[in-house]
Amino acid sequence: MGGKEDEMLVFLPKPRRRLRLTSWGLAMDVVLLTLTFSLFALGTFSIINPTQFQNFLSYFHCGSKSSSQNTTLPNLHVGAPQCDVTFDSDRFDCWPEGKGAVQQTCEARGCCWDTNVGQGVPTCFYPRIFNNSYRVASFQEFTHGMEAVLQRSTQSPYPGDVMELKLEVTYETNERLRFKIFDPNNKRYEVPIDLQKGKEMASNPDYKVSLSMEQFAITIRRTSTGDIMFDSSGVSPLIFADQYIQIGTQLATSNVYGLGEHRSSLKLDTDWTKITFWARDQAPILDENLYGSHPFFMNLDGKNNAHGVFLLNSNAMEVDLQPSYGSSALTYRSIGGILDFYVFLGPTPDAVVRQYVNLIGKPFFPPFWSFGFHLCKYGYMSSTEVKKVIDRNRAANIPYDVQWNDIDYMASHLDWTYDNTTYAGLPAIVEDLHQHDQKYVIIVDPGISSVESPGTYPPYDEGVKDDIFVKAHDGSNLQGKVWPGQTVFPDFLNPNATDWWYRQAKRYHDVVPFDGLWTDMNEPSNFVDGSISGCTNSSLDNPPFIPPVIDGSSLFSRTLCPSAQQYVSSHYNVHSLYGFSEARASMGVLNQLKSERSIVISRSTFPSSGRYGGHWLGDNRSGWKDLYYSIPGIINFQMFGIPFVGADICGFGGGTTPELCTRWMQVGAFYPFMRNHDALGQKDQDPGSFDLVTQGYMRSVLQTRYHLLPYLYSLFFRNHIQGTPVVRPLFFQYPGEASEVDKQFLWGTSLLISPVLEEGATFVSAYFPSDVWYDFYNGSRLSTVGESVRLDAPLSKINLHVRGGSVLPTKPASLTTAALRNQSFSLLVALADDGSAEGEVYWDDGKSLDSVEKEKYSSVSFSVAGKILESIVFVDNYDVGSEMQLDGITIFGVGKMPQQVMVNNVAVIPHYDGKNHVLKLSGLSVNLLQPLKVTW
Ligand code: NOJ
Repeated sequence: MGGKEDEMLVFLPKPRRRLRLTSWGLAMDVVLLTLTFSLFALGTFSIINPTQFQNFLSYFHCGSKSSSQNTTLPNLHVGAPQCDVTFDSDRFDCWPEGKGAVQQTCEARGCCWDTNVGQGVPTCFYPRIFNNSYRVASFQEFTHGMEAVLQRSTQSPYPGDVMELKLEVTYETNERLRFKIFDPNNKRYEVPIDLQKGKEMASNPDYKVSLSMEQFAITIRRTSTGDIMFDSSGVSPLIFADQYIQIGTQLATSNVYGLGEHRSSLKLDTDWTKITFWARDQAPILDENLYGSHPFFMNLDGKNNAHGVFLLNSNAMEVDLQPSYGSSALTYRSIGGILDFYVFLGPTPDAVVRQYVNLIGKPFFPPFWSFGFHLCKYGYMSSTEVKKVIDRNRAANIPYDVQWNDIDYMASHLDWTYDNTTYAGLPAIVEDLHQHDQKYVIIVDPGISSVESPGTYPPYDEGVKDDIFVKAHDGSNLQGKVWPGQTVFPDFLNPNATDWWYRQAKRYHDVVPFDGLWTDMNEPSNFVDGSISGCTNSSLDNPPFIPPVIDGSSLFSRTLCPSAQQYVSSHYNVHSLYGFSEARASMGVLNQLKSERSIVISRSTFPSSGRYGGHWLGDNRSGWKDLYYSIPGIINFQMFGIPFVGADICGFGGGTTPELCTRWMQVGAFYPFMRNHDALGQKDQDPGSFDLVTQGYMRSVLQTRYHLLPYLYSLFFRNHIQGTPVVRPLFFQYPGEASEVDKQFLWGTSLLISPVLEEGATFVSAYFPSDVWYDFYNGSRLSTVGESVRLDAPLSKINLHVRGGSVLPTKPASLTTAALRNQSFSLLVALADDGSAEGEVYWDDGKSLDSVEKEKYSSVSFSVAGKILESIVFVDNYDVGSEMQLDGITIFGVGKMPQQVMVNNVAVIPHYDGKNHVLKLSGLSVNLLQPLKVTW
């Protein structure tokens, strides 16, 4: 700390406490007590930042020796608001309702009015000093956290102010801090997800927390650099009313990412953007609330360190992003629950994702077959038509693993039925798929018909008996309307619903043994607003503040009444958990039914959904823009801990073209979950439906995907055990260089995908970070890096580059993943400038539920240094000889033809491509589970 004369230090005991009080002699009529609390016990202390508080006269309780203080603060003098907020960008919205403000009503809130403002800038905004908020009445500090009591003495504009709040800060781990603001006197709703916390506590954290006492604010900084990770001072003040909770934070820079589910560029626009959170059946449109809710963001600071912030809150919410103080700021406005924040220290972007995912639960491990190609369409009018599609794709030698059925297979759109006229051939189709080592996935919707004749439809009859349907406000089963007509909705938060769901699935599975479940419409979607009899006049159905949801005026548009009752709470609170709870129940059902790994693909998701399944990005259209937006969409879900994600390849709505569909198959071949899906009434778009040339392009990129599946699978293993993201934007790897690039992406750290996203283009302008990059197809080294490069991209080709320093496991492409598994491995080695490289392979039977947990797998790592490639076999428990054989090694970046190449001390004859500097070894026939040594 610098020794300024006007700073006063107060030393506190235990063992040595220091309170620094600053008063910069500014004539102010507001009293502020700023205390900074340090991680004393952990050996650090914090400072007060003079510039942050220059508007305030400091007040302090001098000589305090106790860590628990009950301060008596003078009354606040509420004078004329200080409206000289010079820059538009520093104006924080005091009238988020949008409509209805006039000068008088605005000023009645103690706010400032100015209509002469730029686009998006609030006309009613908080003054520089806003007294109508909370102050810290007392605090207590512990070894691993602190507690404070916050009090307000005046009313906010919203009913039901919680006049006294508790702040709890917990130093949970060295990389994770939690702070929670809640009502200590009345229990409020908290999100019922099972966070994965260990017993570990912070021992040497790189974060520091400070509080400002008068006009409460919390500031969290990275100790080693001083950069802000959360700072609620000088932004929208804290409001905590029953149905309106607001808190703001400064952002370290405007490089901010996440906050889903929405459609936008990867880097969020901080120029007055509103992002709404409320699960919604809405075909993706820009910036609106879509199917899921993920209140998590990542922010890069000025030194390119990354941190993450997660608000565990499932209520309808908005986040406002705006420019502020030369950077950006963010305001949360939720209409329920509590403020339960987690801050993740990173400092790399992928460390932030790991830390987040380790809290919300590491993703499920998909079976190997699910990485193959999936085919689906809404509007296969009969089982004969499905069979035709299967046959033509087989005949066209399209690598293809999974056939899906949309609601067409059902009788009258009833879950757990099939139409035995149009779909009479369904059981035979499933049998045929299985005989060809292919899989079958069905759609199921939450809406259960409630108007079938009694005794004819067990899903309804048994559900009524088990009492597992969502209740209307009056205790009856809420009646809505979805595909089958009038429906009720299972409450998957009710533990009894899982058993009911299992019984329905089992009965059906006995006849049609499906391999995975597609849980659609689970926002939940409703074709009538609220219920067939509308909603109530209660404040749950008509809250005093509604974030800017689609259809603006109501929360129950296209879903259930918020006043509906679920097992754990009102639908108002748990609405956005519906998809998560259905996926959790469905994965449980599948595990029990199949005793093997399986997939659930859910449309609606919430933090933790990744533990129980994957996601697709919903009802996109066959347009080039949609193709582009799929990339930020897929990357966002890596941040949200749902890595098994894809978009409808070739586009769902609207007609595709051979060119668009080819380009989309090329991008889609690098979605973790690769499914081509098409809407009702649209022309077929499965590869086999196209002309031979187009089929050829599609086959070729599918072969590339299948060839690379051992690499993808190994990435998913890492993801499953550590949360390491699979698909990454360039900024994860090169944060200083590529913070905005979202038209390219990486698989892991090694494979860069640079697709064509524009109609008619035969080249692509791709950014190559300063590193070593080799063309995947011929191994030639790229000569220009650190800038955009124009690459040839005829329709037949997607550009792929391998990062120097990588070792990728592969197998020869095959028509199914089952066939691929039986083939030998190869290694693709790309040397860094210093001749090094590293990588790993994970392999198991592709399906056991406990492969990882019971170590029923093999795992081998590879490293190259000084022209020697060596392996270390870490685990060798999966030992099917034909699968574990290594036949080929290709090495990119070998400067000249080696004199001699030895594999496990046996000389081999290599092939050397002198033009591209590629060394190829084939026919090796060595066991990958024996230590490998290759020298050249
Ligand atoms: C909506 C889904 O998003 C879409 O993929 C599906 O085809 C239709 N529902 C019909 O089930």
